[in-house]
Amino acid sequence: MNKVILKSPHGTSEIKIERGLMGKVNDMIHKAYPNARLVVITDTNLAKIYSNYFKTNSDELVLTVPSGEESKNLNSITTLAGKMVEAGIHRSDVVVGIGGGMITDLAGFLASIYMRGISYVAVPTSLLGMVDAAIGGKTGVNLIAKNILGTFNLADYVLIDPNLLKTMPEREIKSGMGEVIKYAYALEPKILDDLDPLNVDAIIEKSVNTKIRIVASDLKESNKRKLFNYGHTFGHAIEAKSGYALSHGAAISIGMNISNHIAQKLDKQSTQLSQQIKDTLEKHGLPTELPANQSIKDLIDLIAQDKKSSGKKIDFVIVTKIGKSEIIKLSAEELIDIAKDFK
Ligand SMILES: NC(=O)c1ccc[n+]([C@@H]2O[C@H](COP(=O)([O-])OP(=O)(O)OC[C@H]3O[C@@H](n4cnc5c(N)ncnc54)[C@H](O)[C@@H]3O)[C@@H](O)[C@H]2O)c1
Repeated sequence: MNKVILKSPHGTSEIKIERGLMGKVNDMIHKAYPNARLVVITDTNLAKIYSNYFKTNSDELVLTVPSGEESKNLNSITTLAGKMVEAGIHRSDVVVGIGGGMITDLAGFLASIYMRGISYVAVPTSLLGMVDAAIGGKTGVNLIAKNILGTFNLADYVLIDPNLLKTMPEREIKSGMGEVIKYAYALEPKILDDLDPLNVDAIIEKSVNTKIRIVASDLKESNKRKLFNYGHTFGHAIEAKSGYALSHGAAISIGMNISNHIAQKLDKQSTQLSQQIKDTLEKHGLPTELPANQSIKDLIDLIAQDKKSSGKKIDFVIVTKIGKSEIIKLSAEELIDIAKDFK
């Protein structure tokens, strides 16, 4: 088993990566919290595929929400919390989020606010969850725009079993690859060595290590953690405008290309690097152009409402060299002006 510890001034998270781990998850959690009742939160898709792993004691709960981003909202939180109250779940119990990023964001948020906070374990099942969403304590739900309500809540344990990826639909694997390629170009070029041929175990391990390296010193995203938002400023807006028809990774892939376009226009990225990133994304089946029904102007209107705009300036991440990125501040007007000719 590969074990890494994320230690931050705000808490600690133990991350375990092992093929076959899913079969041991139930016992491991009961052992770690001997007197707690488990509340498993998952989605309807995963409940169908993995229900034999969710066996809990008769006084424990398995709660499901419909799969898909539409479930990441306050209604789900109210419904789930209501069921937990009815079942007498207390602060000494533990929430276990088993799912992709939608579920770990939702379950992590619920755990952080239920009775002012109860223990939380994340079991990411999607590639995106394993390399990114379940690591580093960001939780939340959508309200008007993405992740408007949320908390920083480190999971006590993050249990990763790469075998679960065998049941992942191809669309979702591609979505996870969007975040992996983001890490590679913005922060950790060594990941590029494992893209072709794809070495899934290596990319999970390197991505997790990249994430914890930065998050350990900046959990609350006041500084370096913002670099993970490469592609996300436009990506979140594109995802929301598509009504979540585009996967998260597909949307940030387009967002990375918009960022590259901006970086090039500011003379901060070479055309060769821009082309290389585009080629890598396309090779992994990700889109790089805006959907026909979306415009840069509409996206920027949405971005201006998003949490990443501080005052009038928006923090915007650009990649300057392979594995090197920086934050620049641009107003909505400047963004429109620089990005308007992106296709
Ligand atoms: N908290 C963070 O730091 C962070 C970072 C990145 C993304 N996110 C969030 O993550 C979410 C996207 O995550 P996602 O792409 O995992 O989406 P998701 O959780 O909606 O999962 C995508 C689909 O794949 C299915 N699925 C997941 N694992 C499976 C498996 N092993 N086998 C078969 N099907 C499986 C799910 O049921 C779902 O239908 C977004 O809400 C995004 O905002 C959070």
